[in-house]
Formats: sequence, structure tokens, C-alpha cells
Amino acid sequence: MAHPSERIIAALDFPSRKPALEAAAKLQGIIRWMKIGLELYVAEGNRIVSDIQNLGFSVFLDLKFHDIPNTVAGAVRTAAATGAKMLTVHASGGPVMLAAAQEAAAASSNPPKILAVTVLTSMDAAQLSATGVAASPAEQVKRLAAMAYGSGIRGFVSSPEEVATIRAAHPEATLVIPGIRPAGAATGDQKRIATPASAVAAGADYLVIGRPIMQAADPAAAAQAIVDEIATARS
Ligand code: C5P
Repeated sequence: MAHPSERIIAALDFPSRKPALEAAAKLQGIIRWMKIGLELYVAEGNRIVSDIQNLGFSVFLDLKFHDIPNTVAGAVRTAAATGAKMLTVHASGGPVMLAAAQEAAAASSNPPKILAVTVLTSMDAAQLSATGVAASPAEQVKRLAAMAYGSGIRGFVSSPEEVATIRAAHPEATLVIPGIRPAGAATGDQKRIATPASAVAAGADYLVIGRPIMQAADPAAAAQAIVDEIATARS
């Protein structure tokens, strides 16, 4: 398994380029990955992906594609051309869409890892039922992960609560886990949370961490403390 500094993905949840680049610059040499999500990407487009890569980071482009297979395949090809190394799609787009995403990625000159989002962590049983899904969130996560796996997907994003279940069902999958809070950190709006050490112990490969790093008085020190916590958890 990679060095702990290569297992932390800092979430660049900013509305524009300037604060994002300032935040990333503070973490150079400490961690390897940055996650660019919809807020920043919609504002800045592919330019921000290059900017972050030029600072020496690998980019996880978290745009959660969900459309007809042909459209998703095209979006994956375009996103792969930015050099982003991880991309997200919604598992609920179905087997044909997932296979199209996986095939488009595999055919790229620099294939990114496709990660399927199963059930959004903002969905509870009532929200799921309102969309016509009778299964519990936990059952639905399992079902969608198995379906995505059958379509060739080998990576997943899930909350800390589901990581052990997905890990048990798919031992070789790549698991990317948000909702991480170091002991003593503010939880914010996250509900299903885990510490870095416990998420790694449950089977997480990568931890997505936003506010506990970005809003720390000293982001570099906060990131380094998490790197050290993961190193201790593994030894
Ligand atoms: O600040 P915080 O550590 O909560 O940020 C977590 C990041 O992971 C945010 O970018 C959030 O959108 C993302 N995320 C999440 N839960 C998911 C998927 C993504 O918190 N299920």
C-alpha cells in the first residue's frame, strides 16, 4: 500500500481559482492528491485541473457523471484527457452506462480510475423511498456496488459506515472515503464519520478530507498530523 501521504485527498471546495491555488500551495510536499468538485470545476473548467497538476498534485475530478451511456462515455474521454487520475460516476446510472464509462476510461491514453458513487450519503431511507427505492440505504449500497462491479468498475466512493461491507464483498476494489474527522475536529454537516485511523482499519484506500485540513489554522500541520495518524494505524 502507498505511503500515507499518498492516501489523503484534500477537497478543494472553493468557488474560484485563487483561493483554491492558495490552499493547494500550502500542501505541496505533504500530500499528493487534490479533489476538484463541481463548484470549482463549473467556475474554472479544465484550466484548474492543469493548474493543480502543475503544482505537483494528482487530481481526483469528482463530477459524478449520470447520463445516457454515450454521453457519459464522451464525458469520461474528455475528463481523462485532462490527466485527472480518478473520476466519479453514479452507480444508479445502470450497468450499460457504467460499462460505457469503464470502457471509455480504459481506451484513454492515460486511463483514469473510475469510481462509482453508490448511494449519496445525504440519502436516508425516507429520501430513497421517495425516489421509488424500497431497499434500505445499506442494502442499496451493496446492490449497486455488486452491479457496478459486474460492469467492470473497480473503485467506489462510500461513507465510512459502508466501507467494511464493500471491502468484504470486493477485496481488490479501490475504496475512497469522505466523512473523515480526526479526533476532536468539528464534524460540520457530516453525520456518518470516522477518524482517519478507523477508516483505514476498516479498509479505506484513500481518505477525502476537506474542512479539517482547509479550515485549520495551519493546513500543512493538520495534513501532516493525519499522515502521521495513518502511519501509526498501519504499524
Ligand atoms: O469538508 P469535508 O471533509 O466534509 O469534505 C468532504 C468532501 O467530500 C466534500 O468535497 C464533499 O462534497 C465530499 N463528499 C462527501 N460525501 C460523499 C461524497 C463526497 O462528503 N458521500
